[in-house]
Amino acid sequence: MPRQKDKSADTTAPKLKLWSKDSWKGAGFFYTYLRPHRGVFIPALIALAITAFLTALFVKYVGELVAPALEGKTGDALMAEAGTKLKMLIALAATQAFIAFWRIQLFAKAAERALSNLRVDLFSRIVRLPMGILNARRSGELASRIANDVESVRDTLVLTIPMLIRHGVMLTTAVIFILTISVKLALFMLGTLPVVMVLIAIFGARIRKLTRRSQDELAASQVVVDEALQAITSVKAFANETHEQGRYRSAITQYLGTALHAAVPRALFIAFIIFSFSVALGCVAWFAVKMISTEELARSELTMFALFSAIVVQSFGQLPDLLAQFQRALGATDRVREILSEPVEEDTATSPDSAIPRLKGQIEMKNICFAYPTRPEAIVLQDFSFTARAGQRIALVGPSGSGKSTAISLLFRFYDPTSGQILIDGHPINAMPLAHLRKNLALVPQEVLLFGGTIRENIAYGKPLATPEEIESAARQANADSFIRALPNGYETLVGERGTQLSGGQRQRIAIARAILADPAILVLDEATSSLDAESERLVQEALDKLMQNRTSIIIAHRLSTVRTADQILVLSAGTIMERGTHEELMAHGSNLYATLAKLQLG
Ligand SMILES: Nc1ncnc2c1ncn2[C@@H]1O[C@H](COP(=O)(O)OP(=O)(O)O)[C@@H](O)[C@H]1O
Ligand SMILES: [Mg+2]
Repeated sequence: MPRQKDKSADTTAPKLKLWSKDSWKGAGFFYTYLRPHRGVFIPALIALAITAFLTALFVKYVGELVAPALEGKTGDALMAEAGTKLKMLIALAATQAFIAFWRIQLFAKAAERALSNLRVDLFSRIVRLPMGILNARRSGELASRIANDVESVRDTLVLTIPMLIRHGVMLTTAVIFILTISVKLALFMLGTLPVVMVLIAIFGARIRKLTRRSQDELAASQVVVDEALQAITSVKAFANETHEQGRYRSAITQYLGTALHAAVPRALFIAFIIFSFSVALGCVAWFAVKMISTEELARSELTMFALFSAIVVQSFGQLPDLLAQFQRALGATDRVREILSEPVEEDTATSPDSAIPRLKGQIEMKNICFAYPTRPEAIVLQDFSFTARAGQRIALVGPSGSGKSTAISLLFRFYDPTSGQILIDGHPINAMPLAHLRKNLALVPQEVLLFGGTIRENIAYGKPLATPEEIESAARQANADSFIRALPNGYETLVGERGTQLSGGQRQRIAIARAILADPAILVLDEATSSLDAESERLVQEALDKLMQNRTSIIIAHRLSTVRTADQILVLSAGTIMERGTHEELMAHGSNLYATLAKLQLG
């Protein structure tokens, strides 16, 4: 995917520092979301540090329990001492378990709350992204950001960070204890640390870069799944399961390649750590025996030293893997942060009591030129102009791909024109609050998707505070009331992906009821009747006729029967208005394009 390559290209400058500026941003990002829950998170951190410290202390007591035996004590005196130590050990273990129980719960609380906020933030940013960006990113990719990337952030918060802290504290405590036993031996042992730190820095940056890439590729593979499932009827009808399988396999193979590629530095890294630690440990043991031979170290001290060394080795052995995981999570947050920092459209939220001023519905498009931001070289609309007086019906006809849908998407300000101006009631639409503009417009598209919920809720989508009477009256005007009542649960029937499946004509009439309820000044019908059978079309057309009363309407239609009564017909070809006038004018004129279309479609 070239676009994603570009994206990563600008961030792949070699980063050899463990904490590059970006990593700090990533860490700061975690902090932003945890801050509101610091009342829970900080106690959890403290509890974590305490349990880690107690683990190290526990090991110290085990050492002290066996020490007298190693120093040659025997009999009842030895057992009495051991008994006391054992009681202390049990008390310590109980304390530790108790704190751990609370600590894990607190962590989960803080992290899950922070993540829920992050998920909601991400979703609310995504739905507010401008159309240009939403179209450029495939929807599956955005959905995968919420699913996969947030999941990896979650792992970091509830697993990686606590483990990092736990091992960090255990390591520090063990090192301090070791220092109190023998400075000489401890320094010998710690000599290996700087080497490892440098390696973590080098491998970490590389692992993070590769992780980010594999995360992108995983998202790309998710797009295939989404597309295939959305269009599952087509997939099956064309018997293209194998083709889709191939598409998915190649996306997964790409991901697999990168993921395995990322495994190489990680494996190298860990292998190196294991090796260097084993060697270091051997050397330390040898050095310790040498110190015993010169009586610089007692036997019981050696036991203690060995126990603490076990902690050091174990904790240190975990650190690189944990840091690598942390780097991976930061890689995932890059993308999440990227979406969170994309500029969003102006907020269209309005408080329920703030009345949106109703526009009259006079529309003026002046010399519009437009190309989609993703394909700036392809001019879609060229010098597109028309004026509709309030209440008029404007029909837009023309071959498929001529720019009809594009023209109306400019009216909704899904995109801004490259040049030219759009005025409603004489005011430029880009100077109007977006909510003001869009609440005065309603769109009935060709393909209506209903939301999961009841039919009543779906109709109320056009006016959330509508009363049941208003909803039913809208449904009656939309010719939908009788079929809705015939359903087993009437208006409370669940529809949408998991509910009752309605026919195209029925969904269309629900969309019309929605628009009637919204009562917009301007109505846009984008091929609203094109995919319907004759009977549905008659019912829908009737409903539309009612809907178009008292408002300005823009009708895009393939069938000329629908546009005959329009006050003005605009005949579009390749983004330019070739002819305009009423049906009679255009026919009388003997005009070529419209007449051809009319002949083809009116028979
Ligand atoms: N989101 C988009 N990004 C880039 N090009 C687009 C987009 N949508 C439509 N186009 C292109 O714009 C042209 C006009 O499309 P459209 O307005 O949908 O035509 P119509 O509705 O008349 O069939 C077509 O060439 C189409 O390929
Ligand atoms: Mg179209």
